[in-house]
Amino acid sequence: MTRNRSRIAILASGTGSNAHALADAVDAGTIDADLALVVSDRPAAPVLASMRARGVPVQLVEPRQFADRSAFERHLVGVLDAAAVDWVVLAGYMRICGPQFLARFTGRTVNVHPSLLPEFPGLDAIGQALAAGVSATGVSVHFIDDGIDTGPLIAQVTVPILPNDSRDSLAARIQAAEHELYPRVVADVVAGRITAAAPAPHSRMEVHS
Ligand code: GRF
Repeated sequence: MTRNRSRIAILASGTGSNAHALADAVDAGTIDADLALVVSDRPAAPVLASMRARGVPVQLVEPRQFADRSAFERHLVGVLDAAAVDWVVLAGYMRICGPQFLARFTGRTVNVHPSLLPEFPGLDAIGQALAAGVSATGVSVHFIDDGIDTGPLIAQVTVPILPNDSRDSLAARIQAAEHELYPRVVADVVAGRITAAAPAPHSRMEVHS
């Protein structure tokens, strides 16, 4: 059997607003792929119910059900392979991808992070930016590697920090920028216009106000 359309899995741990922006782009045909599966590592993640409600297959893969991280990852890779997934899109997935996952999906996994990497990697990037007193932060999309938010950059959008910004107001503008940028980048990746070997010529720096 030949299969023309790529298949995407989204990994998400929380609300899933980016996952829904991606699903909207799949539904609109902007991302030329099928959304095969949404996987969460957290039973209480709202993304599980909201994606199920829109008819997307969802699966919970909970680390505590496994003896160790390596067993968890082997199972996760098996779930993704069983769904015949070509691309993995991390959307608020709060776990580090380990060797079993990387061996299978390096070069085929992208992540979105709410800062202008390499600035403010890791947890609470928005809080880090506010604490640092910088005048702008933003959004980065990158291929993953074995570090924390260190893989090859694909695209970034700058989001200014306004004098009277609260954490919530800044987070809202960052999320709006994510919802615009991430589906566009995923569309380019699944169409082969961007590859892990050559992400730089396609990088974009834009300002989102
Ligand atoms: C996003 O800000 C993303 O950059 C970060 O986690 C957040 C997830 O938000 N990695 P959501 O679950 O997509 O609403």
